Amino acid sequence: EAAKKNGYPHYMLKEIHEQPEALRNTILPRLREGIPDFSEDEIPDELFSFCDKIAIVACGTAMYAGMVGKALIEPIIKIPVSVNIASEFRYENPLVDARTLVIVISQSGETIDTLAALHLSKERGAKVLSVVNVKGSTIARESDYVFYTHAGPEIAVASTKAYMVQLASLYLIGCRMSMVRGKFSQKDAGEFVSRLLDTIPAVQKILENKAKLKTAASILAKAKDAFFVGRGLDYAFSLEGSLKLKEISYIHAEAYAAGELKHGTIALIEENTPVIAVATQDHIYGKTISNIKEVKARGAFVILITKQHAEITDDICDMHFSVPVPHDRFTVFPVAVILQLLAYYTSDMKGLNVDKPRNLAKSVTVE
Ligand code: G6P
Repeated sequence: EAAKKNGYPHYMLKEIHEQPEALRNTILPRLREGIPDFSEDEIPDELFSFCDKIAIVACGTAMYAGMVGKALIEPIIKIPVSVNIASEFRYENPLVDARTLVIVISQSGETIDTLAALHLSKERGAKVLSVVNVKGSTIARESDYVFYTHAGPEIAVASTKAYMVQLASLYLIGCRMSMVRGKFSQKDAGEFVSRLLDTIPAVQKILENKAKLKTAASILAKAKDAFFVGRGLDYAFSLEGSLKLKEISYIHAEAYAAGELKHGTIALIEENTPVIAVATQDHIYGKTISNIKEVKARGAFVILITKQHAEITDDICDMHFSVPVPHDRFTVFPVAVILQLLAYYTSDMKGLNVDKPRNLAKSVTVE
């Protein structure tokens, strides 16, 4: 068992550290002359041109990867992209037809609700592309097309490296689709890919500078509640950050679109309530910062994540982390690592069972 953890105290920490490699393994085999090419995956370009809408369907962390996918892809390709919780989708008579591309995301490839959503989509004539980690799993076998993520086996219940490569896959799929649909030139696609590749050393850098994250975790470990806020893509990242924290530290954690705070959540802010704020998107930076100042003024302990070179003053936050990625669309990769490590250290400091949190299972094959 100790050997399998490769010197790390927990699988989760080991898997967090495997992310640069998982990213390389997932991205590099899909590049031809620096452009995404899925011929080896046998995914034809028509899959990206026939549809007039996209429905992403998944559960848990995979669904939150889908939220990032939507926030990335929809503004570029300009057709509706919905993100659906599989257990809802299967019972709600979803708007899926023969012009819909359904993208199913699943680490295990066995989640029963996701599988049922896949069956329903096929019955309605949609084409199903699945993004799956486990080779030969049921979802992979039953989909029309499979895009395998190459995270390698993920043992810790809380998903980390699988999320990371689900994101990378959606970025590659989004890029190829944008080319096929005439939204990206070859040059745009090449630039997009090179920015995607630049996130790998950025992820590595976060992994090499963990001391301050431990300090932040020691503060979180004392909290009963924590809030995650952001707008746009930052909101999508926050959802997964909050799930990670609640899953393994048992702290009540919620993510909110920063602009919604004033419609209710701000009532919950007390002296020292931790608020983890993600503000990496230039066009909404000022708006998020003004929301953060509102919670800070009410006593919140604000942990802020921005890009580098943001101007930070004392009235904004108590702790600040920055990510070495200059392009807004790509900040999720290092931000995800920060949020994973915060959750990991918080759980460990509380002496909890990091790899096997109570009541949770790695793969949910019952309804
Ligand atoms: C369980 C796991 C989560 C996972 C979710 C979906 O709840 O604990 O980590 O995100 O199932 O699993 P899947 O294998 O379909 O990605």
